[in-house]
Amino acid sequence: MADLNTVGIVGSGIMASGLAEVVARAGFAVIVRSRTVAGAGAVLATVTKSLDKQVAKGKLEQDARDAVLARLDVTDHLGRLAGCDLVIESVVEDLSVKRALFEELEQIVKADGILATNTSTLPVIELAVATQRPDRVCGIHFFNPAPLMKLVEVVRPITASDDTVKQALAFATACGKDAIEVADRAGFVVNALLFPYLNNAVRMLEHGTASRVDIDTAMQGGCNFPMGPFALLDLVGLDTSVAILDALYAEFRDPNYAAAPTLRRMVAAGHLGRKSRRGFYEY
Ligand SMILES: NC(=O)c1ccc[n+]([C@@H]2O[C@H](COP(=O)([O-])OP(=O)(O)OC[C@H]3O[C@@H](n4cnc5c(N)ncnc54)[C@H](O)[C@@H]3O)[C@@H](O)[C@H]2O)c1
Repeated sequence: MADLNTVGIVGSGIMASGLAEVVARAGFAVIVRSRTVAGAGAVLATVTKSLDKQVAKGKLEQDARDAVLARLDVTDHLGRLAGCDLVIESVVEDLSVKRALFEELEQIVKADGILATNTSTLPVIELAVATQRPDRVCGIHFFNPAPLMKLVEVVRPITASDDTVKQALAFATACGKDAIEVADRAGFVVNALLFPYLNNAVRMLEHGTASRVDIDTAMQGGCNFPMGPFALLDLVGLDTSVAILDALYAEFRDPNYAAAPTLRRMVAAGHLGRKSRRGFYEY
């Protein structure tokens, strides 16, 4: 793409690492910013491990692996993102944290750079109005694991220009994804439909209808889903899942979005899913 060359990514969690891999593999120069040197190193290590696995499986040439890593830079300085054509933030799902980050990015990133969020549910308009360039702000929502999942939701807050949305859609397509455009409503398309299902699976477990393993087996075998709801909650992260449900409930007041008590108790216990090696299952 002619006008998007360098892409900044903010964060060092599951999604930031996945995004770094996808975007660098698509041929863009990538700079990932974590708050700490250790976090930045962890992103590089995660991407390297993932690429090495693909080389070992014969799915990626060694030269291509080296070229991807040569395009990927990591830092703990936000100022390094100044020259980026596009910055995608992928930090914790907390509106006040994201808003403060957008205020900082506004000061740092060149005036015509697009500022995007990978939020799963939060109102993109709140981030747009934290900047002086609300026309250059949109959502670019990847799915987990980003290297494997085909979909990207491009979210259009009411302030976004057509050009911003067009560039974001073209960027997602250049990353090899199927891009859809969606209005700025909590949960967009996928999570608005998915989370009542996941939440009701937890309620079903609370009611003793079946065991977690049997509920997962039921939805795999009965609906041909690649994984059941508890395996998926563990993959998403239970803290992120509660944050998503809270944002959906705040917007729609639909009881299906009111997080099942078990989810909050598990988060309080630090049982966050795969990332803490314990959720509904142990890893
Ligand atoms: N997990 C998923 O399945 C998924 C899928 C699509 C989008 N998302 C979205 O991606 C974003 C990141 O989610 P994740 O799953 O990678 O989370 P994660 O818990 O793996 O990572 C969160 C990141 O936020 C950083 N962080 C925490 N507090 C911070 C603060 N105060 N200031 C700056 N950074 C802070 C952490 O250091 C970490 O890098 C969220 O907006 C989430 O909704 C998640």
